[in-house]
Amino acid sequence: MDSFPDHSLSLCSLNKPITLGKTRLPNRVFYAPLAGCSDFAFRKMNALYKPGLMYCEMVKMDALVRNDYNTFRLLDYSADMHPIGGQICGSKPAIAGQAARIIEELGFDVVDLNCGCPVDKVTKDGSGSGMLRTPQLIGEVISQMVAAVSIPVTVKVRAGWDEESINTVEIAKIAKQAGAKAITVHARTRQQAYHGPANWEYIRAVKEAVPDLVLIGNGDVFSPEAAASIMQTTGCDAILVARGTMGHPWIAQDILQAERGIPVKSRGFEEIRAALYQHFEYTLQHQSVRNAIIDMRRIGCWYFKKASGTRAFREQISRANDADVIKKLILEFPFEEVLEEDPCATDSA
Ligand SMILES: Cc1cc2nc3c(=O)[nH]c(=O)nc-3n(C[C@H](O)[C@H](O)[C@H](O)COP(=O)(O)O)c2cc1C
Repeated sequence: MDSFPDHSLSLCSLNKPITLGKTRLPNRVFYAPLAGCSDFAFRKMNALYKPGLMYCEMVKMDALVRNDYNTFRLLDYSADMHPIGGQICGSKPAIAGQAARIIEELGFDVVDLNCGCPVDKVTKDGSGSGMLRTPQLIGEVISQMVAAVSIPVTVKVRAGWDEESINTVEIAKIAKQAGAKAITVHARTRQQAYHGPANWEYIRAVKEAVPDLVLIGNGDVFSPEAAASIMQTTGCDAILVARGTMGHPWIAQDILQAERGIPVKSRGFEEIRAALYQHFEYTLQHQSVRNAIIDMRRIGCWYFKKASGTRAFREQISRANDADVIKKLILEFPFEEVLEEDPCATDSA
């Protein structure tokens, strides 16, 4: 499997560089902001497989401008993670410029405005997907960001608050007018949260109505085939992969190679085990041993999602309080035997 259908071979567009403002990105497969997941170690793993751009998880504008230490820690990165984007969340034009400038001064290549987060505690003050209800405010916030920085400003939206208020086209026009260099459309409404499939027609509508704004399509890309399909269905200029990166840091490489007609590498358990080990090593570089161990409970499950036995793995990790014990567990846990016993089992988190 895993090479692209003929029609997409001729397009070969995800492999093409793309320019946002003055920033040139080497390809068009981007990795999404993932709160609580796209941390330093996660991005360090992802950098090995060279996505065209990767975002840090969202940070709050207010926290940035009051110099909150933990917020700055979320934005730690290393040189190999370029091109890298910072994403800010908030709805106050008065501090949006200052927050964007901090992202630029930290050396980020792109700054994004979050208009998609569905969590109540974010939307209740009108931030995140709450901003979908105030499109003009999105324009004001973007204008302040654009005026404050020379790196490209992008915006990430959901299709609308609910199915009765799909307003991506309106927001794309406002964003372009305000100086945004790209818009990412997550093809679900706020009301949908993560339920049900993404409706890529919402992305296509933006391309048709605002063809000269760079459009990044997002939602349900978990394979090279889905990447080809979202490009073909929507005409978007680039794609943003989110959950498809969890435990699959190589998905950009797979997508880009498949598009070039190179068969996708099938990764055996030993290779996945080695990747998890590497991920843990990176986690230890940036976290306390205690937190790294806590993180491993869920990260291990991402990597071994298709194996039964991840529950036992998680339980053993929960009991461990030493990094060497975890390393030994990763190296020796009999995942493959479990898979052979029950190839269809999915007891992952
Ligand atoms: C655990 C988790 C955390 C997320 N955090 C963010 C975030 O910080 N900022 C953001 O814009 N979107 C965030 N998202 C949304 C994703 O970036 C993406 O839009 C969504 O998952 C749809 O893409 P997918 O179908 O490829 O997963 C998050 C999603 C998940 C599952």
